[in-house]
Amino acid sequence: MNNKMQLITCVLLFVFTQTTVKSENPFKSIPVTVKTYENDTVLLPCYIDETETKLRVRWYKDSQLLGDSHAPHELLPPRVRMHNNYSLQVDSLQASDTADYTCEIIRPEPWGPIRQTHSIEVQYSPTVKTIPEDGFLEVRKGELVDIGCETTGTPAPIVDWRKNGEPMALLEHRSRIRFRAEHRLLAGVYECVVNNGVGEPVKAAITVIIQDAPVVSAERSSVHTAVGLRAALAARVLFAVPPARTHWYRDGRPVHTDDRIVQMVRDNVHQLIFRTVRKHDLGNYTFRAENNLGMSDLTFRLTGVPNVASFKVDAALNKPTATSFTLIWEVDSYSTIIEYNLWLRPYYGRLATPEPDAFTTEPPANHWSKIVVPGDSSDGPIHSAIYTVRGLTPTTVYEAIVTSRNRFGWSKPSAILHFATEPGAGRTKPSTSDYSDITPILEETEPEPYNISQAQVFERLNELTSGAREKTPCLLAILILCWTILNFS
Ligand SMILES: *[C@@H]1O[C@H](CO)[C@@H](O)[C@H](O)[C@H]1NC(C)=O
Ligand SMILES: *[C@@H]1O[C@H](CO)[C@@H](O)[C@H](O)[C@H]1NC(C)=O
Ligand SMILES: *[C@@H]1O[C@H](CO)[C@@H](O)[C@H](O)[C@H]1NC(C)=O
Ligand SMILES: *[C@@H]1O[C@H](CO)[C@@H](O)[C@H](O)[C@H]1NC(C)=O
Repeated sequence: MNNKMQLITCVLLFVFTQTTVKSENPFKSIPVTVKTYENDTVLLPCYIDETETKLRVRWYKDSQLLGDSHAPHELLPPRVRMHNNYSLQVDSLQASDTADYTCEIIRPEPWGPIRQTHSIEVQYSPTVKTIPEDGFLEVRKGELVDIGCETTGTPAPIVDWRKNGEPMALLEHRSRIRFRAEHRLLAGVYECVVNNGVGEPVKAAITVIIQDAPVVSAERSSVHTAVGLRAALAARVLFAVPPARTHWYRDGRPVHTDDRIVQMVRDNVHQLIFRTVRKHDLGNYTFRAENNLGMSDLTFRLTGVPNVASFKVDAALNKPTATSFTLIWEVDSYSTIIEYNLWLRPYYGRLATPEPDAFTTEPPANHWSKIVVPGDSSDGPIHSAIYTVRGLTPTTVYEAIVTSRNRFGWSKPSAILHFATEPGAGRTKPSTSDYSDITPILEETEPEPYNISQAQVFERLNELTSGAREKTPCLLAILILCWTILNFS
């Protein structure tokens, strides 16, 4: 018999033995897992259905011998007893008693020993310790954030995380969170909730602070005024860690403040207030916020030209038809509006092409057409205008923009209004693209603030971890190579 045959025979023999033993099962006791608490007492049974009196029984804790019925008092540690019926009793349970306990019955020849394994799990309510221990981590933008909650408790607790009170969409329960501080919005209070079903869940929190250059914003960068009026430029410091130094400039020089021109700061809003505007105040101003990680500027224009106009959306007044649409807008100006320019173009839908039924969903290639709308004679400050655009194409979405002019000049363009014309009478309604149900909407001019969702955080996290994992095959390859070289040299 060669080695291979021996091995196969051996394996078959083993499998056979295992099955026979299983089917016989001489134990009258059944394996148990005892889940219990500190200071309790546990009795683990070990008896078999046999009339023989002279048995030898050994108990093992995991694989370490704990007691032997032939030497009952020699091995047994404190708090552990073996009864005459071979049951094992453990008193005043402690955490260290959590283990597998195996009872082994040694029978006379020709039978071999048989074993049965029980488990004790001494349950403890969880405890938690944060990483870092003081629950506070301040990093610079781009640095690695490494936070965690170290836990104890039996059974092993599971850890859930919340960021600023919101549950985090983690794919798995993890005690450690690592990510790159790529954006200031990743800062916040990271709280772990640790639970193992024993007692109340425990919580701990780590405050993560990310240092970055200040972030500033302004509701209005062009402020409309007139000589003799009060005017204010306002900048909001949205973020500044570490705190920012702030300044107002005009034409590169600090603004000289006095009784008439004053600075005010309230709730992170920095204002430059002109109590009564003089002609030479009109011009460009800069607000600057800086810390040691960078600076941000905002430019303001204190001007006599009209404010940016805003379209009003009202189905009753807009009165859309297949070929016309009534636009309404409002504008602030302290001087008479001389004229408006209304800019219009088809956005998508039916195009004004030679083919009357051509449709497109492509971005607009059409050029803006300008309509001059006369102003009013009112002094304002609020001017409203209404204008019905005619000769439009049915079932088409249009974009509109308006600018206004007074004696100081032209205003900046308004936000874009999207509106749709009704389907044309007598024409076949297009089946694929019917835009008539589009309600006029004003497009956001300001982009949404940069936001990292939880999903992105963990994508990044996975990138970090998978990056680490990728090193393993490489290491393995090197080891194999080394081994080969050593063996064949
Ligand atoms: C167990 O006993 C010890 C000592 O008497 C005591 O300090 C501890 O609180 C007890 N544990 C429980 C869960 O009752
Ligand atoms: C074994 O003996 C102990 C102590 O006398 C007793 O408490 C226990 O119930 C017995 N177990 C069985 C299974 O008979
Ligand atoms: C203010 O800035 C605008 C552009 O932002 C420029 O067109 C204008 O000429 C500037 N005005 C003054 C007075 O410098
Ligand atoms: C970021 O996105 C979440 C959901 O995607 C939203 O609830 C939250 O308001 C957003 N925050 C900002 C500052 O945009």
